[in-house]
Amino acid sequence: MDEKKMPRQMTGAELNSMLKSNVNFKSLGGMRSDELTLSPEKKQWWRDAKIGMFIHWGIYSMLGRGEWVRFNEHIPDDEYEGLAEEFKGEQCDMEEWAQLAEDMGAKYMVMVARHHDGFALWDSPGSYQGFTSANTGAHRDFIKEYTDACRKHGMYVGIYYSNMDWRFPGYFDPHGLPESAQAMKKQAYDQVQELCGNYGKVDILWYDGSWLNHKGGDVSAAWLWEPVELNKAARKFNSGMMINPRSGWEGDFYCDEGSREIEGKIIPVPWEKNMCICSGTSWGWIPNDPPRDLDWLIHMVVDAIVRDGNILLNVGPDGQGKIPEDVQARVRELGQWIKANGDSIYGTRGGPVEPVDKVYGTTCKGNMIYLHIMDQEKFAGCTLPLTEYKALSCTYKGEPVEYTQDAEGLKIQLPSGLQPEADTIIVIQADRPIEIDRSEDIRFTGK
Ligand code: GLC
Repeated sequence: MDEKKMPRQMTGAELNSMLKSNVNFKSLGGMRSDELTLSPEKKQWWRDAKIGMFIHWGIYSMLGRGEWVRFNEHIPDDEYEGLAEEFKGEQCDMEEWAQLAEDMGAKYMVMVARHHDGFALWDSPGSYQGFTSANTGAHRDFIKEYTDACRKHGMYVGIYYSNMDWRFPGYFDPHGLPESAQAMKKQAYDQVQELCGNYGKVDILWYDGSWLNHKGGDVSAAWLWEPVELNKAARKFNSGMMINPRSGWEGDFYCDEGSREIEGKIIPVPWEKNMCICSGTSWGWIPNDPPRDLDWLIHMVVDAIVRDGNILLNVGPDGQGKIPEDVQARVRELGQWIKANGDSIYGTRGGPVEPVDKVYGTTCKGNMIYLHIMDQEKFAGCTLPLTEYKALSCTYKGEPVEYTQDAEGLKIQLPSGLQPEADTIIVIQADRPIEIDRSEDIRFTGK
């Protein structure tokens, strides 16, 4: 039999020490399955990709009060579902979205195919009561449009799917109303297979909402969803598909959700920060939600990559499918920066030097170490504890920078008159390839 190397388990004090950081991984401790576990090699493309664009768009976008509006405001079913007739995506051009992702420097996209409100953005035979964009006002299959646009723009295709659906009373009382809960489960199995099977190769399946009755986490309702079975069915279509941990199965990577700043040590497992380009008060469109400051966004990107993570940045198109101009502008500015500094981002790994919060961090690739300095003043007195490699050169924007190296590490003299900037990148050429042994696949099993 094929001997597959299984990840080493990390728990208790060791895990706590590793996560001496403020990342908060949702859904730790999901079910395991040797059959579903992907090798580190199969996850490589995703780790190299680093940057993704997330899209939350649905009926809720027409109301502009967030994607939870149906539930939060107790909108009567007829009223909310009636809105589907007005949801036409008049200004929705998926090519534009994919172009924007490309402009942002993203290598993958993840689009919400169905959120907790139950509305499917594709022609979904499995949809309970046929609540889909193909059957209502738009008469369009937005997932077809989306997957086509992603491929045209060279984006890996990611799909978000919420297992739970507020339309089912069984969601709120799975034990008391088992038939309804089972009907919800059947919908999830049918729809996940439609999404993974009918639109060509799906590269990322991004679950959400596997909890029940708002209780517990995504993992605690695994008794209902049987996520190992669900994911085996999903993987039939692409045996290498990356799956997030929010179905109740442990998944292929970890998720840190929200705009909390990232601190702490390198986390040497596949992980992803997902957060909004705007204020983050909701993922779906709200009017006049200001985009975050450019330098702050750059810091979030850098803080993720120097700790070996990816970042998935969310935009919310409005009810007609238009991404607000100011958001587009910020995304493009960020993208210009990402692309200009792509060598220090794509295909790199975090390290070899541990980051110092809000001051600096490193990424590396081959013989190159990219030192990302986020605070020039605080950095000025620092010795970079780089002793295992000899620096052959240090450059800033291609120009040599003065440095000395001794038993304590590397002291870099930043060029005088340097303008303040979000990230000052010093490229250090080392005497040999940086060896970061991340061949051991680690599994976090809950704190
Ligand atoms: C949460 C929310 C949801 C959002 C998601 C994004 O789980 O319920 O509205 O889609 O996070 O990560």
